[in-house]
Amino acid sequence: MWKQYITPATLEEALSLLAEHQPQARIIAGGTDVLVELEHGGHPQHTTLIDITRIPDLDTVTLSDDGWVHLGPLVTQNHVVGSPVALDHGFPLAQASWSEAAPQIRNRATVAGNVITASPANDTIPALLTLGAQLRLRSAEGERVVPLEEFYTGFRQTVMKPDEILTDIAFPAMASHERGIFLKLGLRRAQAIAVVNIAVVLDVRDEHINEARVAYGSIAPTVFRASIIEHYLTGKPFLPGTIEGAVALAGEVGSPIDDVRGPATYRRAMIARLLRRALTTLLEGDEREGFPTAPVMLWGAQQARVTEPQKATVHHDGTQPIDTTINGETVTIRGGSHKTLLHMLREDAGLPGTKEGCSEGECGACTVFLDGAAVMACMVPAPRAHNADVVTIEGLAANGELHPVQRGFVTEGAVQCGYCTPGFVMAGAKLLEERPTPTTWDVQQSITGNLCRCTGYYKIIDAIERAAELTQPTEE
Ligand SMILES: Cc1cc2nc3c(=O)[nH]c(=O)nc-3n(C[C@H](O)[C@H](O)[C@H](O)COP(=O)(O)OP(=O)(O)OC[C@H]3O[C@@H](n4cnc5c(N)ncnc54)[C@H](O)[C@@H]3O)c2cc1C
Ligand code: FES
Ligand code: FES
Repeated sequence: MWKQYITPATLEEALSLLAEHQPQARIIAGGTDVLVELEHGGHPQHTTLIDITRIPDLDTVTLSDDGWVHLGPLVTQNHVVGSPVALDHGFPLAQASWSEAAPQIRNRATVAGNVITASPANDTIPALLTLGAQLRLRSAEGERVVPLEEFYTGFRQTVMKPDEILTDIAFPAMASHERGIFLKLGLRRAQAIAVVNIAVVLDVRDEHINEARVAYGSIAPTVFRASIIEHYLTGKPFLPGTIEGAVALAGEVGSPIDDVRGPATYRRAMIARLLRRALTTLLEGDEREGFPTAPVMLWGAQQARVTEPQKATVHHDGTQPIDTTINGETVTIRGGSHKTLLHMLREDAGLPGTKEGCSEGECGACTVFLDGAAVMACMVPAPRAHNADVVTIEGLAANGELHPVQRGFVTEGAVQCGYCTPGFVMAGAKLLEERPTPTTWDVQQSITGNLCRCTGYYKIIDAIERAAELTQPTEE
């Protein structure tokens, strides 16, 4: 794990700290990639983490006067899903963000982090490639703009220098004659890394394809544009016959690999299948079908935004305490700086209700609220809780009464071994705060990040629905 954790108050400070602490220093944003890597012993040279998530004004999605969409480096996957600008002007990106992980991860995971990690399976990359994105990289020495097309040099390799910070992701707003879609094939619908993913943006005028951009992920060392398909489609009438002609070329796209998620032959078949589905859906104009009009976010009133910037840079190297608020009480914790929030809560704050299942953000047993948003505590460095507000399962009951979701679990018998229960209860409680009368679909979405291995899910869904009934005012 890290030896030193520094939380700068401004971007300028972050840049000079990054330069000063090379080669040991590394930026951390949502931490959902960094913590998994550290947990597995990756990048041991990075003993100093520079957390940029307390810097204000970096978490917005905006449309500039010259018609470009801009994403700040702290824009999370949930920010994209909830952004009218992204939905109206970069729909494939919104679809990609929605397909990522589960609400607790989407509340922390940034698009910038997704792009920089450079995994060929990362979902926002094909979407951003087809949207024609470019990246603004800044260091203490100056800044440069790199087209995303030129960013990747190999498997998890980019042109980024160790002292650079990605400060802006920008792409031209989609025009009214452009149609776009992102599709992902995973082994399940949530918390699944892509077996194959695809993004397509077509410029269609007078029922002809004026320009085609098609990008695939998870079938080569980097995400790439399928130029053979693009050339074929360009200039053709947008008709079913053209789609079949393009699909017939899919065998020449990429060189898929065998891995735990699927054999190469299956991937090869899915390259064609996803292309046909993407093009047919665009032809029929159905690309927005199934995209939620009111997505479940689990992000509370603060919407996972930096609302209270820090006054000055904070250093945690093991000697400085973490001053935080847990379940409404101000506490000072010493010795937790090198741990995750999960371990600090259990080992230093005396709150063992938050459970450790996987330590990889996969199971949801460690769900807590951080500044109002549901997050996986195993994916949050403990110093991130300095001057923050944390709520754990121990803080849900009020005035000696169980929270309605806890009562729902008791009434519906939604507990067997109980190990997963705190995480489910926290997710359900945040859902009811956000949506007092949820649909069954809302309830299902709220627990996509949580796994149960003995009760099964029907009773858990019943329990949260029961809790919603318990919170409704009774009629006289
Ligand atoms: C359980 C789980 C499920 C997941 N599911 C998916 C999925 O379905 N699809 C998918 O695509 N991804 C998935 N991911 C991966 C991950 O959530 C994303 O890659 C995420 O968007 C990374 O963003 P972050 O803010 O957490 O990055 P971090 O972990 O903070 O950082 C990632 C990398 O980017 C660097 N970095 C971050 N921001 C900057 C910046 N502004 N300037 C310079 N360097 C920076 C860091 O140094 C690090 O190298 C999953 C992860 C987990 C744990
Ligand atoms: S998600 Fe944190 S322990 Fe499993
Ligand atoms: S009740 Fe045992 S894992 Fe869910």
